Amino acid sequence: MKNFNFHTPTKILFGKNKVVELGPEIKQYGSRVLLVYGGGSVKKIGLYDQVIEQLQRYNLHYVELSGVQPNPRLTSVKEGIRLCREHHLDFILPIGGGSVIDASKAIAAGVNYQGDPWDFMMRKAKVDNPLPIGTILTLAATGSEMNGNAVITNEETQEKRGMGSDLLRPKFSILDPVYTYSVNRYHTAAGTVDMMSHIFENYFAPSDGTFVQDAIAEAILKTCIKYGPIALEEPENYEARANLLWAGSLALNGLTVTGKLMGDWATHGIEHEVSAIYDLTHGAGLAIIHPVWMKYVLSEKTAPKFAQMARNVWNIEDPDDQSAAEKGIDSVRRFFSSLGMPATLSEVNIPDDHFEAMGEKACVFGPIGSFKKLMAKDVVAILKNAL
Ligand code: NZQ
Ligand code: ZN
Repeated sequence: MKNFNFHTPTKILFGKNKVVELGPEIKQYGSRVLLVYGGGSVKKIGLYDQVIEQLQRYNLHYVELSGVQPNPRLTSVKEGIRLCREHHLDFILPIGGGSVIDASKAIAAGVNYQGDPWDFMMRKAKVDNPLPIGTILTLAATGSEMNGNAVITNEETQEKRGMGSDLLRPKFSILDPVYTYSVNRYHTAAGTVDMMSHIFENYFAPSDGTFVQDAIAEAILKTCIKYGPIALEEPENYEARANLLWAGSLALNGLTVTGKLMGDWATHGIEHEVSAIYDLTHGAGLAIIHPVWMKYVLSEKTAPKFAQMARNVWNIEDPDDQSAAEKGIDSVRRFFSSLGMPATLSEVNIPDDHFEAMGEKACVFGPIGSFKKLMAKDVVAILKNAL
């Protein structure tokens, strides 16, 4: 196990009706709020009204930025920055899924930065002195509510890229499972795949003696396998929604990568190229790519780790590493399909037209992946295998 510092400063307020604690939490950091939300789900579920009531009760001034789209766009980020500057806002409150939270983080980073906010995504600028943010999450998936990452799409260049800084970790996040009852089957499934994919990215990575981290990762995978299907059949099952919600936060708050040099993250890199051009739901893209990536990188060297997952997560008893690994990967594919997620790019009408460009863009900062290093040609091969 490598040395590490582990610091996850986000305060989690978890459970029914935790929204009543919103006002005092915000007041610790600011009094002029940018309220950010998406296409209206927060109004349908009554969360918007509850938030406004809290803001008014605590005399918090607010300005709204609505209409943030899934795969959030740079234009929303720029508009948010403009509003913050114009109204001298000092706190950002996203209410919604990962897209709303990610847009808010990029806004928070951009307000006190004089250049183009896309610079953060292109590694030309470092986050310094961002506005504080606190979140109310309504969809179990990305882990954005407890990490410092944001993924933004530049619609002009058809690029989707991430940025990250510990300074962007939310000060607090309110996680009320009841708000996730209304998430439809498709996004519930995509969110479950996303969390599992985050676990895979850090699990299939070079590591030595990280038994406890891997055991936590396996437990989170089992949580998704147990409760994902229940949430699909019984959307208002509190136990299922609560377990998925907390699993999503734990899957990507840094916990499972502690003691390792780095995660792999090639699959996410490849998926981001797909959703940048085709605006595909992130989790659906991962459901297609992740099992294909697994098969592509499976070798004598990597088989033992895949076999470990097969045995500990999917209860496969095969003593041979290679065949246990293959069965484990098939189990992942079958599980994603059982959730109703696509298995091929053709199923979601994505042709091979842009594969070469996607390979180049995925590797724009160099080869990707730590479990197995991938060049642009490997990315193209994986995309072809996914057709
Ligand atoms: O826009 P509204 O009306 O709110 O509808 C949303 C949206 O259409 C809807 N939704 C959210 N909560 C709901 C609900 N519908 C009914 N009831 C509710 N309670 O769900 C749709 C999808 O929302 P979105 O926020 O896009 O989903 P998700 O949370 O999966 O976020 C996906 C984005 O996060 C990025 C992805 O690439 C993608 O852009 N990621 C962010 C990461 C991070 N910050 O750490 C890591 C991830 O790997 C990922 O890349
Ligand atoms: Zn993801």
